[in-house]
Amino acid sequence: MADLDDLREGADFGLGIASSSQTFHVKGAANLPWGMKDRLSRIFNPKTGKSVMLAFDHGFIMGPTSGLERIDLHIVPLIEYADCIMCTRGILQSSVPANVNKPICLRSDAGTSILTELNDNVLIDIEDAIRLNVSAMAVMLSIGDSAYEAKTVANLYKAVDLGSRYNIPVMGVTAVGKQMARDARYFGLASRLCAENGANIVKTYYCEGFEKVAAACPVPVVIAGGKKLPEKEALELCYNAINDGAAGVDMGRNVFQSDAPAAMIQAVHAVVHDGLTPDQGHELFLDLSK
Ligand code: R5P
Repeated sequence: MADLDDLREGADFGLGIASSSQTFHVKGAANLPWGMKDRLSRIFNPKTGKSVMLAFDHGFIMGPTSGLERIDLHIVPLIEYADCIMCTRGILQSSVPANVNKPICLRSDAGTSILTELNDNVLIDIEDAIRLNVSAMAVMLSIGDSAYEAKTVANLYKAVDLGSRYNIPVMGVTAVGKQMARDARYFGLASRLCAENGANIVKTYYCEGFEKVAAACPVPVVIAGGKKLPEKEALELCYNAINDGAAGVDMGRNVFQSDAPAAMIQAVHAVVHDGLTPDQGHELFLDLSK
C-alpha cells in the first residue's frame, strides 16, 4: 500500500491552460487508434468537441420511473435531438428502432436494484456490445464504497481491456452514494481514478470547484443532470459545467421529466454547442414549448 502520510491535496491545476497533448478534438484521445477515434468522433461533435448524450438507462435500477414508463412514446421521439444515446441492451433491442443512426453508449454493467444494496455490478459480455455496434461502453465506478469499490474498479479496467481489443471506448460513470461527499475533492478523485484505469470518457456530477475536476481529468468529462430541476436551473447547470471545462452532458431526468422534453433537449443542445446563455436557452425552451 502506498504511504498515505503527508497526502497533499492538489493545488496547481493550470486552470485556463489547454492540455498540451490536445491535437484531436477529444481530450486525451490523440494517441488512440483509428477505431477509437472514429467512435469518439461519433459521440463528440468534431466542430465543437462537445456532446449532448441522452441518458435513459435508469430503469435498470429503478424500473419504470417517471418519464420512462413507455420508451417508445416518450424517449424515441427525443433521440433525433441527441448526439448520443445511453441505455441498456434490453431497452436498445426492444424499444429503440435500429434505424435511428445515433451513436450508442451502452450501459455495460448490471447488478442490484434500488430495493437492495446498490453497486454489486458485473459486466455484460463484450461480444454483445460488438453485436449491437455500440460507440462506447458505460461502466460504473463506486469510489469510497468499502463493499464494492474494488469490484467496480475491476469492472472498469476489465471493460477497458476488452474495449481496447475492439477499439470500443469506455465511459467511467462515477457513482454517488448516501455516505459519499458530493464535492470537487470527491468527484475529482473518482473522475481521475476512472481515467487512470483507462476510461476514455468520464461521467460525473457538477459541483462547486468543478473546474478542478475537469482540469485534472485527462479525458473528457460529461455531467449527469441529476434530479429534476426547473428548466432554467437545469440550463444554468449545463452552461456552468461547459464554462468550467465539461465536454458535454449525459442528461436524463431533466430532459424526459420536463413538461416539454423535446424543447428541453433542444435548449440543452443550444447551450452546450452554441454557447447560449441560460436566459437565451430558457427563451428557446419557452418558444419551442408553444
Ligand atoms: C445513473 O447511473 C444513470 O446512469 C443516469 O444515466 C445518470 O444519472 C444520468 O441521468 P440523470 O441526468 O437523470 O442524472
